[in-house]
Amino acid sequence: MKDNQTRIGIITSGGDAPGMNAVIRAVVRSAAHFEMRAYGIHAGFDGLFKNEIDEIHPDDVTGIIHRGGTILRTARCDEMMTEEGQAHAAEICKVMKFETVIVIGGDGSFRGAESLSRHGINVVGIPATIDLDMECTEYTIGFDTAVNTVANAIVRLRDTSSSHDRCSVVEVMGRNAGHLALWCGLASGADEVLIPEHPIDIKEVEEQILNERAKGKNHHLIVVAEGIGGSDKIAKELERALGIESRATILGHLQRGGMPTAIDRMHASVMGFMAVEAAKNKNANKIVIFRNGKHELISLEEAFAAKREYNHKLYQITKILAI
Ligand code: F6P
Repeated sequence: MKDNQTRIGIITSGGDAPGMNAVIRAVVRSAAHFEMRAYGIHAGFDGLFKNEIDEIHPDDVTGIIHRGGTILRTARCDEMMTEEGQAHAAEICKVMKFETVIVIGGDGSFRGAESLSRHGINVVGIPATIDLDMECTEYTIGFDTAVNTVANAIVRLRDTSSSHDRCSVVEVMGRNAGHLALWCGLASGADEVLIPEHPIDIKEVEEQILNERAKGKNHHLIVVAEGIGGSDKIAKELERALGIESRATILGHLQRGGMPTAIDRMHASVMGFMAVEAAKNKNANKIVIFRNGKHELISLEEAFAAKREYNHKLYQITKILAI
């Protein structure tokens, strides 16, 4: 390695998402392809402040494409919320001679990236969150794995719920967005999906369950988005009102782990390559997105201004199929 080679920094920030390791691999190997030096910043922006930064070579990322989590580790960093912290972070990037920093994460991480760019550091963002709650892209790395993890957990819940003639109330992550809950509900044949994008009417849920009972169905599945919350209370209320045994299951952080699906690894590999290609072409302050079936680069401004229409049709179809 020559010391005059361009240096890029790689950081995973915010909540981890399956597929982050596949991105790291793609970034490190693409950097080698373009004769750039790649540096891993450990534990998110916290690690930047603590100077936990190491060069990563192509061999270091062998055997990680299928592993969940992030070998760089990650964190949510309060210091990056302050103007002073942001200026300090940019200063460290300059000392490290990073021509570009590639930030892998969700909305909050991209705010951190944007603040670095305001302080003169080139950044490229790669969307990775199980929540799919980013307006600028139709896909975020980790989403497909989380949908599959939840759908598989629901298969198990169905077994026990049907053995006991019960109603299962399953709470799914997603922060303030209902995408994960909606996809999982549709993919699992849920009777109802309660998401923040729709007003909740518990009486309607009760009627739906009673109608199903009348038709002979012995178990029921209600998927509740984290943004609605209170799954335990909902289960108790259903049991009280309907006399049907109900149990709440909060799936929690298991939704963030596990082997990334092939779809996540594919997006991770393409997006990782495109981010380094953008860095190579000095096409800075961009985000790699997936839109209309294609990966593309858009500016940070466009990304923050983007509005993606919520897919109401998925909700309608879930209801129609629940008859
Ligand atoms: O953004 C991913 C996510 O898992 C959300 O779905 C959830 O609200 C949040 O992170 C949980 O954060 P933490 O890992 O800090 O508990």
